[in-house]
This record gives sequence, C-alpha cells and structure tokens, in this order.
Amino acid sequence: MTSPRIDDDERALLIELEPEAGRLYDRHARVAQEWFPHDFIPYRLGRDFDKQPWTPDQPRLTGVAQVAFEIGLLTEDNLPSYHRLIHGMFGKGDGAWINWVGRWTAEEGRHAIVLRDYLTVTRNIDPILLERGRMSQLQQGYDRDAPDTLHGLAYVAFQELATRISHRNTGRYSDDPVADRIMVRIAADENLHMVFYRDIMSAALQFQPSAAVRAIVDEILRFEMPGAGIHNFLRKAAQMAKAGIYDLRVHRDEVLMPIIRHWKIFELSGLDAAAEEARRRLAEHLEALDTAAKRFEERLAAAGVVRLGSPAGG
Ligand SMILES: [Fe+2]
Ligand SMILES: [Fe+2]
Repeated sequence: MTSPRIDDDERALLIELEPEAGRLYDRHARVAQEWFPHDFIPYRLGRDFDKQPWTPDQPRLTGVAQVAFEIGLLTEDNLPSYHRLIHGMFGKGDGAWINWVGRWTAEEGRHAIVLRDYLTVTRNIDPILLERGRMSQLQQGYDRDAPDTLHGLAYVAFQELATRISHRNTGRYSDDPVADRIMVRIAADENLHMVFYRDIMSAALQFQPSAAVRAIVDEILRFEMPGAGIHNFLRKAAQMAKAGIYDLRVHRDEVLMPIIRHWKIFELSGLDAAAEEARRRLAEHLEALDTAAKRFEERLAAAGVVRLGSPAGG
C-alpha cells in the first residue's frame, strides 16, 4: 500500500517530468515508422490445420531457435500485465504520460501479432503449445509490485534494451531471413522504447540525482527478464545463454553498460551517502558479472560449443 504522501510525491515527480515526457513523446511520434505485421508473413506457406495438423517434423526452426521464439512470443503475449503495471506507474501523470502509455501499448501489441502469425503460418512451433503457454502465462500475470516512478523508469529502460537485444539475436540465430527481418523490425521498436525511458530518466537524474541513482542500482541488482514467470523459464534461458542469444556478457556489455555510460552514473558528483554506497555496490556488481561472464565463456570455449558471435557461429 502506498501512503497518500508517497502518492503526492509520485505525482509531483511525474508533473515535473511532464514537459520532458511531452518532448520525448513528440520525438518518438516523429521517428517511429508505421509498419504492418501482414507485410512480414510468408502466407504462401499457409495450409489448413484441420486438413493437415501440426506435426513435429514440420518446423524449419529447431532446438534453441525454437525455444528463443517461444520465449520471445510468450513474453510479448503478456502485454495486458505490463500495461496494467505501466499504467499504474505513469497513469498518475496526465497529458504526455497518458499519451505515451497508450502509444507504447499499441506498438507492443504488434509484436505478439507478428510473431504468432509467423510461427503459425510457417508451423515453426506447435500452435497448441503456444496457445496453452499464452493461457497459462496470462492467467498467472506478471506479478510485480508496481514500483515508484524512479524504479519503474530504471527497470523499463534496461528491460526494453534487453528485449531488443534478445529479439535481435534470436533472429540472427534462427538463420531464417524471414524470421530475421521480423526480429530486426521488432528490435527497432524496442530500441525507440528504450530511448524514451532512458532519456526521461536522464531528466529525473537532474531533478533527483541521489534518489535516481539509488533506484537505478536497485533495479540493476534485482534485474529479471519480463519472461521470468514462463514455465521452465530458467532451463530455457540457460539454453539461450549457451547459444549466445542472451548471456551474462550480453547483459553486462550490451544492456547495462551502454545505459550506465549514457547516464554518466560514475561521473555524477554531489550525491548523498546512500547513493555513493549504491554506486560502490554497482561497481562491485559489474566486476562480478564480468568475472562470471569470462568463466562461462571459457567453459564453453573449452567444450567447443559453437555460439552466436563465435567465428563458426551464426
Ligand atoms: Fe515488445
Ligand atoms: Fe518495447
């Protein structure tokens, strides 16, 4: 439960950030390109399922590529939960914030549409498995306490970039030009979402630097992918890590570091003691991630595992 006083503080911060949210919304609307899921689907491959049911020999995608598409779609499928959360955080603002929540939700909706259409028409994943996965995923919801504005902004900035890279690498790994083109398109959306949240957080760092730094560090330390609630997620995420689609190295070097650098977290001055302490813990965490990533890479290299990005890999 949030107290009325906290609610007032939250509203005050949203109002303070509103002009910047408006500017960033307008920029987003200018640069975001309209696109249509049907343009990306090879409908010529379609056949009726009542005449020709799905069988396991039909998919062109196999193994980890299939797993990564399943995780990607089920993650996108959970949009109603994310919408509820985002609305809970930013819906207290008005004008630009509400416009953003609506726009963001509408754009995200296309991701599940294009992925499901692709997977169904190409028969690359059992459609019954996908639908059962969606049902269980949505009934369970994405149960995270709605964080305050600063924590929420920090999380979504990292999460959008993580999703961008994960989708992009899933496309590359699939070795299917149709799938790759879809993932490039979705990743471009996720990138613009990240840029909105990253830049609004930059404004928040000006208003409340110490509180913003603490929120950023909190979110990095407890970061979890939005798909974490999917059945067997850990096992599937481990397969994706081994394939090089999303592992500790990617997470540290391609998701955390670019945003941390952009915000100049380690160059800010005049922070309070708690924010300095948070920054110290962040430095330790980045070190530990680096060490763990090296160990993981060495172990796989020694075992001769071919990975995305390795010379013989995709
Ligand atoms: Fe998405
Ligand atoms: Fe997104």
